[in-house]
Amino acid sequence: MKVINNINELKEILNQEKLNGKKIGLVPTMGCLHKGHASLIQKSVEDNDITVVSVFVNPIQFGPNEDYDKYPRTLEADAELCKSLNADYIFAPAPKEMYPDLEKFSDLTMVAPPYALTDMLCGKSRIGHFDGVCTVVTKLINITSPDRAYFGMKDIQQLFIVKKMVKDLNFSVDIISCPLVREESGLALSSRNKYLSDKDKISALTISKALFAIKDGYQKGITDTKLLFDTAMTVLAKDVELDYLEFVKKENFESVENIEEPTIAAIAAKVGNVRLIDNIIIGE
Ligand code: PAF
Repeated sequence: MKVINNINELKEILNQEKLNGKKIGLVPTMGCLHKGHASLIQKSVEDNDITVVSVFVNPIQFGPNEDYDKYPRTLEADAELCKSLNADYIFAPAPKEMYPDLEKFSDLTMVAPPYALTDMLCGKSRIGHFDGVCTVVTKLINITSPDRAYFGMKDIQQLFIVKKMVKDLNFSVDIISCPLVREESGLALSSRNKYLSDKDKISALTISKALFAIKDGYQKGITDTKLLFDTAMTVLAKDVELDYLEFVKKENFESVENIEEPTIAAIAAKVGNVRLIDNIIIGE
């Protein structure tokens, strides 16, 4: 397992691998890898001859008041994990390598997903976030020319937007969705869980509990999303600051009032200063 920081070096290596008929899997990450990432890496290693894990905290997907500077950076531990999972390369470029003109941010060519998909859920509270995500994912795909790229269903809006981008712009890569991974307690795994104190963690647990209460309510016959929303609110701890809890169709992310087809209940909430997201699919 080799760590590569340079775009041209990685391109040369992967071009050669492709010439030798190897299939390439890309697992894009921002590092601080956990079992959720491990499941993506494992799937890529199973499906492909070569697995590249990118570890890059992408500055252009963070808003000015977000946690870019203090986002956990744990490259050594990430490399250990990748090695133990038989990944072949970590691509860990410096911000300057990816964005030589970052100071002139307004000059940067960006890939912007449709407004209808970003003026909702996380996109509504994180203005420009998905432009930053689509731009970096495009760059990572262009750099690695993978046959497959792996994304987790915890970031379900990101997954939907990336899939749409790949389809709309005719990228030659298959986007593979991988299931959300939870701790035994139910908490969705996230690199940001590292920020939670023991007390915060107890509150954060009520986020997944609220989603499980929705599923329970639906299984007992409640299909009105207003009622399911109210059920969830009775479970959410008082010190959890809700950003959104919305119900959207799995098929197209349109808002749902009454559940008649597979529906995503997606939530984002702050516990202390930590913004967490989670979701559950019901009606499948
Ligand atoms: O999901 C993430 O970790 C990031 O948004 C991604 C896809 C690696 C792009 O920076």
